[in-house]
Amino acid sequence: MSKPRFFVPNRINGEVIQYLQQYGNVGYRDKEEKISEEEFLEGLSRANALLCYSRQKINGRILEQAPLLKVVSNIAVGYDNLDLGELTKRGVLATNTPGILTETTADLTFSILMAAARRVAEADQYVKSGQWQEWFPSLMLGKDVFGATIGIIGMGRIGEAVARRAKGFNMEILYYNRSRKKDIEQKLGARYVSLKHLLQKSDYVVVLVPLTEETKEIIGAKEFALMKKDAILVNVSRGATIDETALIHALQENRIAGAALDVYEKEPVDPENQLLKMTNVVTLPHIGSATKETRGKMAMKAARNAVAAIIGEPPENLLNKEVLQKAK
Ligand code: DGY
Repeated sequence: MSKPRFFVPNRINGEVIQYLQQYGNVGYRDKEEKISEEEFLEGLSRANALLCYSRQKINGRILEQAPLLKVVSNIAVGYDNLDLGELTKRGVLATNTPGILTETTADLTFSILMAAARRVAEADQYVKSGQWQEWFPSLMLGKDVFGATIGIIGMGRIGEAVARRAKGFNMEILYYNRSRKKDIEQKLGARYVSLKHLLQKSDYVVVLVPLTEETKEIIGAKEFALMKKDAILVNVSRGATIDETALIHALQENRIAGAALDVYEKEPVDPENQLLKMTNVVTLPHIGSATKETRGKMAMKAARNAVAAIIGEPPENLLNKEVLQKAK
């Protein structure tokens, strides 16, 4: 029988390639920039396993060109780039990398919250551009974080890790989630509230839900109207959880005080996007899990998931268990 073939269309930790080579042949493209669709489809047509980042969309049209594919291993916790229905229909396993990026993403969430509150990026720019000619008492006045109220929308692993950080800052913690998390309430003193209550009371509204049909534009014009005028919105989940046009209007009309964003409706964000022109908006290029250590661990976890699928074991982070049930 011929050896299985893994396809890795983008640069990844070298150890991962060595690990995969123990189990089969590896089609590796050692480049950072996104692969062209033509080259991607060519590689995929011969692959049994794909390891990809969340910018790679996998839908029915793509899968048509992948007759040998057994597993798509996403190097991300979010998997809105994968059409799970189409994968399952074709008997292709899908996996992700939850857990290991939790603390790293919570660190980033808290850092952009603080950056927006204390105008860190704006102040840095002010100094570097030579505008700082004189110190005066109202220079770069920000907003307190310690003791303020944080509203976390989505109390999953990352939500809980953000709540732990918030507790260290003596914050009142409100949360809204599909289900109540009594253990977190006990441990961290978080309060389960309605979305409306959370929006009305929070100084910092932090969106941490995965993107699904249910959470698409969970925050829109109606929700911005409920928020405090001096509130700051933080989004480290997926851009489409927020109605970006409504966010721009809310900021332009001073209905909220600012935003801290790691994700956008369209990525990379359009250079003409109004959000990039606002000094009260902190903008990062989708780097929630981007530390050397965490990205290395995510890549290895993705590789282990792919190998398990190829050698016929259930992958640890399987997203569509139905495929294995059907095969029994
Ligand atoms: C994730 O893991 O989902 C990060 O957002 C990277 O895409």
